[in-house]
Amino acid sequence: MPKVMAQGKTFDCEVGAILRTVLLKNGVDLHNGQSKLINCRGLGSCGTCAVQIDGEVSEVSWRDRTRRSLPPHNPDCDLRLACQTRVLGDVRVTKYTEFWGQGMEPQWTPESS
Ligand code: FES
Repeated sequence: MPKVMAQGKTFDCEVGAILRTVLLKNGVDLHNGQSKLINCRGLGSCGTCAVQIDGEVSEVSWRDRTRRSLPPHNPDCDLRLACQTRVLGDVRVTKYTEFWGQGMEPQWTPESS
């Protein structure tokens, strides 16, 4: 089973699990601030579940690429939409600041909350 490290926690998930579902189920604050309430619930349209991932995950989907090509996201940033990403192996997840997680500073890292 893949190990997921996020916000100072480590937990297991099934191979192929959707990263957003795994993070929320394990109490990780995936959405910053008011985006906890105002988000698309995993449809891939709001862009607020953006995270940086180090590890083995599914290929970038067209929905992920399309949403992150729109401001305030920057397609050159090394982020992924958690709701459009499947976990295939051990992963380390970092969340950045700002409503869409598009900030420059980490909100939390794999090791710290
Ligand atoms: S939850 Fe809206 S894009 Fe992922």
